Amino acid sequence: SIVSKNYRTAYHFQPRKNWINDPNGPMYYKGVYHLFYQYNPGSVIPGNKTWAHSVSTDLINWVRLQPALERTEPYDAKGCWSGSATILGDGQPAILYTGADDVKNQAQCIAFPSNLSDPYLREWTKPDSNPVIRPVGPGLNRSQFRDPTTGWAGPDGQWRIAVGAELNGYSAALLYKSQDFVHWNRVEHPLYSSNSSTMWECPDFFAAIPGNGSGLDPSMAAPSGAKHVLKVSLDSCDKYMVGVYDLKRDEFVPDTVLDDRRLWPRIDYGNYYASKSFFDAKKGRRIIWGWTNESDSSSDDSAKGWAGIQAIPRTIWLDCQSKQLLQWPVAEVESLRRNGISHQGIELEKGGLFEIKGTDTLQADVEIDFEPEAMDSIDPFDPSWLMDTEKHCRKVDASVHGGLGPFGLAVLASANMEEHTAVHFRVYKAEHKYMILMCCDLRRSSLRPGLYTPAYGGFFEFDLEEERKISLRTLIDRSAVESFGGGGKVCIMARVYPATLIEDGGARMYAFNNGTSTVKVSQLKAWSMRRAHVNVKKA
Ligand code: FRU
Repeated sequence: SIVSKNYRTAYHFQPRKNWINDPNGPMYYKGVYHLFYQYNPGSVIPGNKTWAHSVSTDLINWVRLQPALERTEPYDAKGCWSGSATILGDGQPAILYTGADDVKNQAQCIAFPSNLSDPYLREWTKPDSNPVIRPVGPGLNRSQFRDPTTGWAGPDGQWRIAVGAELNGYSAALLYKSQDFVHWNRVEHPLYSSNSSTMWECPDFFAAIPGNGSGLDPSMAAPSGAKHVLKVSLDSCDKYMVGVYDLKRDEFVPDTVLDDRRLWPRIDYGNYYASKSFFDAKKGRRIIWGWTNESDSSSDDSAKGWAGIQAIPRTIWLDCQSKQLLQWPVAEVESLRRNGISHQGIELEKGGLFEIKGTDTLQADVEIDFEPEAMDSIDPFDPSWLMDTEKHCRKVDASVHGGLGPFGLAVLASANMEEHTAVHFRVYKAEHKYMILMCCDLRRSSLRPGLYTPAYGGFFEFDLEEERKISLRTLIDRSAVESFGGGGKVCIMARVYPATLIEDGGARMYAFNNGTSTVKVSQLKAWSMRRAHVNVKKA
């Protein structure tokens, strides 16, 4: 139908059809980026997971290959589940993935490229030694044991990986050690565990230098001064802790332990799960991929014939205070921009609305700097809001006047604003600092019934006196609205299915201010985004 055609994204990663979930084993190998992903070859609903495989030279245009891993062995008969790639010392890549068998065992399995001289690494071999890590050991739940990380080298020259697990009923990232990457021993204590939740899916563990945008190669010892980040997936979102990797104890030690997991910072405050990062040796950066589910009905998914996309790959780094991760769409996405427009010095008084014209409204990249004119009407911050940011976003609706804010961007809007997705900020004054709420409110995103339409939100600290400008970047891609606030401090990925999309070109886009204080848009830039070649061609 025309509707499903228009919801299909133009430059976010997706297969031609069927169900996808987690990104798996991203890597850069000999000039080529590889992305594998959880894929059901036969249906728009989950099941029968294989590792589908695509390659790219720019992270934006992708060519699909044959599946890398299929359910061929007893130990992966139920599915080849999530895992990671590691570039070993001799330059050879290896995949570790979870095999799910018929009797609910999850075990870690290895695969190597069958032919190292094939630049695309089309074919993968599962050695007879599989599974290389069986679900046995004290405290382990054999059906909650999966998603091995990329390997990193320890000070003793041995490889280490972490595996998501339920240990004595609680969450853990179990630690395994190996000399040759094939024979693994469980280290008695986990890399990290917590009694604040159950199973963690898709752990990701990496080193980062505070305030440095470069990534670090996990096969080399982390330089002194490096911090470590542990990301885990639970409660339908990706959360992380910043801390140090204590080499003597071989343990991750978070800088702050928050007992209430609702307070853990998130990679993304929207529809984003099972993320995985990798070190890009080509450009010396760390890049993170994350899965974005559909949020329409499953009958819509059948009508569309596909379900799930990957968010735009993002460069990820640690801020200079080691407090939080920052993320920004990889620069390569800018190669899709065309017909740029720009405006300066737009005053938005209370109720002000500025229509952004001259670019495509269904496929666009928008960057806006908001500058408050006055600092005297800023409302006080209440820390209890941090417990439930979505609830707070519902309360501070974009149409409700505040002191400083809400101001932001309304996208995929119908002529009368009956339908629109609002991405907006609200500024609060806390003790000695400012706290900014960023919302992506889907409640009016569509007039169609039966959709999941939350108001996503996240808070970030901001030095308003020093920095002045609060920036917003939003990538609009038909049913995807992916936003970056404060230079990448809060990211919100959202899926929307407006009826307006039915008429191409019918959607509008506005900058708005509904706060009492006047806000200046000191800079506004927008571009139309070309369609990328995403898996249309098979190599
Ligand atoms: C996360 C997850 C993983 C698992 C995979 C199966 O979305 O549940 O834990 O390996 O998906 O597809």
